[in-house]
This record gives sequence, C-alpha cells and structure tokens, in this order.
Amino acid sequence: MSDRKYIFDSYQLPSGVTLKNRVLLAPMTNFLSNDDGSVSDKELEYYKRRSGGVGAVITACANVNEYGKGFDGEIGAHRDDLIPSLHKLADAIHAKGSKAILQIFHGGRMCPPHLIPNEDVVSASAVAALRPNSPTPREMTEEEIQQTIADFGAATRRAIEAGFDGVEIHGANTYLLQQFFSPHSNRRDDQWGGSVEDRMNFPLAVVESVKSAVTEHAKDQFVVGYRLSPEEREEPGITMDDTLQLVDVLAKQNLDYLHISLSSFNQGSMRDENDTRPRIDLIQERVGSIVPVMGVGSLHTADDVEGALAKVPMISLGREMLMEPDWVEKVAKGEEDQIRTAMKLNQQEELAIPEPMWTKILNVPNWFPKEEE
Ligand SMILES: Cc1cc2nc3c(=O)[nH]c(=O)nc-3n(C[C@H](O)[C@H](O)[C@H](O)COP(=O)(O)O)c2cc1C
Repeated sequence: MSDRKYIFDSYQLPSGVTLKNRVLLAPMTNFLSNDDGSVSDKELEYYKRRSGGVGAVITACANVNEYGKGFDGEIGAHRDDLIPSLHKLADAIHAKGSKAILQIFHGGRMCPPHLIPNEDVVSASAVAALRPNSPTPREMTEEEIQQTIADFGAATRRAIEAGFDGVEIHGANTYLLQQFFSPHSNRRDDQWGGSVEDRMNFPLAVVESVKSAVTEHAKDQFVVGYRLSPEEREEPGITMDDTLQLVDVLAKQNLDYLHISLSSFNQGSMRDENDTRPRIDLIQERVGSIVPVMGVGSLHTADDVEGALAKVPMISLGREMLMEPDWVEKVAKGEEDQIRTAMKLNQQEELAIPEPMWTKILNVPNWFPKEEE
C-alpha cells in the first residue's frame, strides 16, 4: 500500500463537492466525437479506461456554440439534443467512481475555418494569431458577445441536465476567453477592451452566466472551475502582472478552483528567461488562501506529484494518463515502478487510444516518449 502523504487525501471544494483524492484527469481533446458533436462509443471506452483512479475526470473541451468548434471530433455542448449523449459520458465516468467535469469552450480565432459556418471565424478583434496560416477573424458584434456569454450558461445547464458534477470554463491556451483578456487579440475600445480591467469583462461575464445557470438549474452542489494560462509570448501579450490582477478578481467569484495551464508545473516566465520564479508559486501566494489552485504539467512520477501537492491542493495529469491509464491505481498499490513512462507502441488497444487520436498524438514531434516495448 502507498504511504504517500498527499495524493490520497480527499478534498472538499468550496461548492461542497468532495473529491476522493487530489489527482484529476487533465482535459485532453481526443478527436473521437461524432461529426454532430455526440460522444462516440470508442470515446466512452477511452474515458472509462481513465476513470476510477482519479478524483475527477475533466473532459476534452466541448464547444458552447457552432462558432466555437476548435477541433475535428470535438464534443458538442451547444444543442439540447446532445444532452442524452453528454449523459452517457457522465454516466461512464461515474460508473468507475470518479467525478465528471465538462470543459466548456469557444475556440475564437483558433478555430479551423472548415469547422465554422461559412468559415466565419470570430474573435475579440480582427487580428490573426501569430502562427503560420492563421485566418484573420471577424470582430464580434455586441449581439454576438452577449449571445456567446448566454451560450456558456446554456452549455452549463446542459451539463447539469446530463448529470455532470461540474464544468470547467476554458479560459486558457489561446482560446476565446484568453483572446478577450489578451492585448494582442483584443484591440477593442468599447466596454470589452482597452484597460486590463476592461479586458477582464468578457471572461467575468462568462463566469457570471455560468454561475447563474448553476443557481437556476442545479439541485445539488455543482463545481465551477476556471482554467487560465498565465502568460503569452506575444508583444503585446498577457503579462504576469495582468494575470495577478485577473486572479485577484477571479478569486472573488466563488469558484471551486483556478486551473493553471502550464507545460511544466514549476515553469518560470515565458516572457523573461531571467525570471525563473515558478508561475504557480506566484499565483498560489497571491490567491491560494481564497480559491483552491490546481497545477499541471510534466508531473510524471509519484514524487513529482507529491512535490506539487506540497504547494497546491490539486493537480491534473494529462499525457501521463494517456501513457498510463492506471497511474493512480499503481501508486495506490505501491507499484510505482510499474508506471509506464513512454507510449507503448504495441499497446494501443490496452491503452484504449483509438484512431484517429492514436495517429495524431504519435505524429506530434517530442510530445511523447515512445517505446516498442
Ligand atoms: C492530446 C492533448 C489534448 C489536449 N487538449 C486539451 C483540451 O481540450 N483542453 C485543455 O484545456 N487542455 C488540453 N490539453 C493540455 C493538457 O490539459 C495539459 O495541460 C498538458 O498536456 C500539460 O500536462 P501534462 O504534462 O500532464 O500532459 C491537451 C493536451 C494533450 C496532450
């Protein structure tokens, strides 16, 4: 049996929902949903294989309206007829004993045009991302902004009706909420842009819409988390100073957690290589006593996770749980030396990573260490 100090402690979130331990499945897009946004059978198998050990599963991002679809094979949370399919997903996760959290999302200017009606890609302003072949989006109208805020609330209602325990608002990784907060993608001079306070208005309106949906529709305690990326490389771009102001305000919104999206848990600044102070420490010091902070990023071993949990109350595991779906169970049984630390190329079926996800993840250079076995 494991004598790990933190991992297996239960944890009660501010809403009252209790996680049986401190490790969550990080949200990971799997390209496995059907074209209409419904969850496929192979996707259910993928989630079942990764549920049970973790305290909660945070799903892949699910688009809240048809202009927000960022990936082929993405889960849809944008129509009521998708509620039965979302219900199957929540049930599959619950059947294994983990809480189920739906990540809700709009891709904004990062959406591939072929996935969007009339290829009409929208964002805060008509500024293309600094990546090759990025489309120049159309600036959202006031009406579209209000509709999108309402769509986050409607997606939350669907998650409640589908039996999820919570939603995570995707405010990270360059997508629409971050685009409104970023001085690179947001050049507006109305109430939705300009000063750092005004750039917060859209993300805060989304939080309010989500919280209102919970008040109106949830009969039980319901988790609302918020994911953010602390910095951007772009000039202008989100600075740590901007983010500390944002987390000050988010900490007052009665959220269950802030999930800090970093590729490495203890990462320093991506804007200033001389500033090596871990971003997670700066955020934990600033608001950790007010709102629980969740970390993520290249936490491979039980020692890595214990070290992280000495700083923050929860962590999520992404690629580790693709390579090792039994990560938590193996630590619990004291079988840490059995944890797979590379993608075993002859174990696609055993790992429950169906096509097209398998081919996609293997084609990204340096994403996973790979072994023939
Ligand atoms: C295949 C894949 C898909 C991902 N999709 C999402 C996503 O849908 N939403 C999100 O917030 N992050 C997504 N991420 C980022 C992960 O949640 C996580 O932050 C990142 O992989 C770093 O954690 P790790 O080192 O434990 O993998 C994805 C990562 C991977 C590898």
